[in-house]
Amino acid sequence: MKEIKEISDLMPEVQNNSETLQCTMDESGCCIVPANDTERAFWDDKWAAGATGWDLGTVAPELKIFFDSIEDKTSSILIPGCGNAHEAEYLLSQGFTKITVIDIAPTLTRNLRKKHEGNPNIQILDGDFFDLKGSYDYIIEQTFFCAIPPSMRTQYVKKMNDLLNEKGVLTGLLFNREFEGGPPFSGSIQEYQELFPANGLELVKIDVAMNSIPARQGTEVFFRAVKKKMSCCS
Ligand SMILES: C[S@@+](CC[C@H](N)C(=O)[O-])C[C@H]1O[C@@H](n2cnc3c(N)ncnc32)[C@H](O)[C@@H]1O
Repeated sequence: MKEIKEISDLMPEVQNNSETLQCTMDESGCCIVPANDTERAFWDDKWAAGATGWDLGTVAPELKIFFDSIEDKTSSILIPGCGNAHEAEYLLSQGFTKITVIDIAPTLTRNLRKKHEGNPNIQILDGDFFDLKGSYDYIIEQTFFCAIPPSMRTQYVKKMNDLLNEKGVLTGLLFNREFEGGPPFSGSIQEYQELFPANGLELVKIDVAMNSIPARQGTEVFFRAVKKKMSCCS
């Protein structure tokens, strides 16, 4: 997934709300972040075939409650591995103005661009989260962590740390259960409690989610992580 190809000299800087992202533009004006072809094809095939069993069809109730608690509608919010971006749709309906979503599957991002055409409050990026640049107040996790290979989990937390602004918050849902094979890949509270602090993020909350959809009840946790404070010496 991490095989970054050279982006040509023609790398325009694209204004993303208040952030500046580096990406290339395709012929239709879509902002492209580089991505490994195999990974892209794997997910794109799923979207093209409609094999999207993970899709809740609506914003996850736990996330809706969290979004309702954010007062500043100009907060910059990133949703990686966004899929059908139901969370973004909810945020838009509530008047949020700086939403960025990214997904590696072009079939999906094409559809999202059509759906949100002309809406300046959402930026839809086609590409690999691990190659994204930017700085966000909130980053939302919703069945993205379980989709990436477990060998990339350390990189996931480090990348989240890079993408959060100083007071930024990474929050959302993570599975606390085993799966056979994957994706989705297994995960547990114990693993998260080691993984996040070891890679720069403090887990300020991690509890079994109280408002999961029935099929996921008791199998996912709601968490909030922030940058670890640097301890100082004098
Ligand atoms: C299990 S789906 C979840 C989609 C959505 N978050 C949801 O809950 O409905 C995982 C999504 O992550 C995307 N994805 C996988 N690897 C990615 C990567 N490295 N960068 C960006 N998106 C990625 C896939 O295309 C897919 O849409």
